[in-house]
Amino acid sequence: MFSLHPFLAAVLLIAALPAVVIAQGPPLRRDIGKYYAQNCEACHGRNLQGGLAPSLLDDQWTHGSSDDDLAKIIRDGVPDAMEGYKDELSEAEIRAMVIFIRERRAGFSSSENRPTRTLPGDPVQTEEHAYRVEIVADRLSTPWGMTFLPDGRMLFTEKSGELRVVENGQLAPAPIRGTPAVRDSGQGGLMEVAVHPRYAENGWVYLAFSDPATRDGQGVSLTKIVRGKLRDGAWVEQETIWQAPLEFYRPGGGVHFGCRIVFDRDGYLFFSHGERGRQDDAQNRKLPNGKIHRIHDDGRIPADNPFANEPGAFASIWTYGNRNPQGLALDPRTGLLWESEHGPRGGDELNLIRRGANYGWPVVTFGMNYNGTPITPLTGREGIEPPVSHWTPSIAVCGIDFYTGDAFPKWKNNLLVTALAQQELRRVVIEDNKVTRQEVLVKDLGRVRDVQTGPDGAIYVALNQPDRIVRLVPVK
Ligand code: HEC
Repeated sequence: MFSLHPFLAAVLLIAALPAVVIAQGPPLRRDIGKYYAQNCEACHGRNLQGGLAPSLLDDQWTHGSSDDDLAKIIRDGVPDAMEGYKDELSEAEIRAMVIFIRERRAGFSSSENRPTRTLPGDPVQTEEHAYRVEIVADRLSTPWGMTFLPDGRMLFTEKSGELRVVENGQLAPAPIRGTPAVRDSGQGGLMEVAVHPRYAENGWVYLAFSDPATRDGQGVSLTKIVRGKLRDGAWVEQETIWQAPLEFYRPGGGVHFGCRIVFDRDGYLFFSHGERGRQDDAQNRKLPNGKIHRIHDDGRIPADNPFANEPGAFASIWTYGNRNPQGLALDPRTGLLWESEHGPRGGDELNLIRRGANYGWPVVTFGMNYNGTPITPLTGREGIEPPVSHWTPSIAVCGIDFYTGDAFPKWKNNLLVTALAQQELRRVVIEDNKVTRQEVLVKDLGRVRDVQTGPDGAIYVALNQPDRIVRLVPVK
């Protein structure tokens, strides 16, 4: 007869317990890639290349090519060919599956590991212009933000905390002395540098960074904005322009700082503040993170800000529901403010920033979680400002700038868009506030962090890994 030793039986019982608890709890959040492997792969192939059923990679769609068309087939199936999955998958999971199929089509999963190439020696021909790549500054430490002074000097930041100068094409060996201490940790550090629109009169330079502080013995940080002046290689006359009370600071380094600064035509200072990895905070106007803010150049808060009179709200908030706004730029034709927002997996956004609007994160998004679990089936909703355009799969969108130079005349007023993971510089044509065309100008030279039009009309590009600044110059 078979019998268990009592001790062994107790161990088995305990070992079995968690499984019982899970089976009775709420359904687990599933990785949609694993779900594909278990349920779709047998027909559509391990790599979606097809087999018993058609390929999902060849852009040949019998039932329509839009996200909604794909979702409908997955939900309802095809008579006599494929069962529908509406009883198996939630709407959010069906959305995640659509993103998964788009990602695979774009080769998303391999892009993070793509080796970085050496710079092309020969001219690169694009649709409208040919360019050459020149190195401006090399062997840097994560260059992050760039700007130009009216006298032609370039200022740029390194995330580790350095503010540096390029003068007459030469990188000054020593960084500017006396800039503020930063918390260089996670995605934070010294980030943006911007110049006052009337710099020639007042000499103000602005910095945005992760401000290191201590609360209850614990290291905390949050975005802070200061301005100061450059004198004999030193940072002087510093003033704090924007800072949240200590209670709002977040532990350690962390993610999603945002941190771009742009002045509009009326001289208001706009800056972006990421949600610091706390997605629900983006909808809460009592918190500073996950927002675009508007202040005066000296830090005063404009009385006509949309939530200035809302009890408890941060009066500097201009828009909310923003995830990780890594790019801000003013359209030279209209004066309107554009924002690029680094999404989750899928759903990188290009937004037109409108007073008081809610940009939806995390209530609506075109993306899913990095681990393949869905966030929401909603890609749009009443009262939420939709993106003008979105990149799904993500390109990991970062800094943006309108091209305002004369060296590449056919690119005038095009939006230059950078991408970290996809290692791209894109040219995005915007007409009547809509994206009408996109072209990848630069590919695989490293993660592209920021882009600026130089006073010489060249396009300055900040690369990470390898960490350098290059410029694109025209080839006749
Ligand atoms: C039993 C085999 C089978 C399984 C399992 C299966 N499919 Fe299909 N699927 C098919 C066939 C066959 C078609 C083509 C139907 C037709 O066009 O007549 C198809 C069509 C599709 C299409 C539309 C293709 C087009 O050209 O428009 C999509 C999208 C799709 N499947 C996704 C999935 C996903 C996602 C899963 C898993 C959740 C899945 N399928 C599981 C057999 C299968």
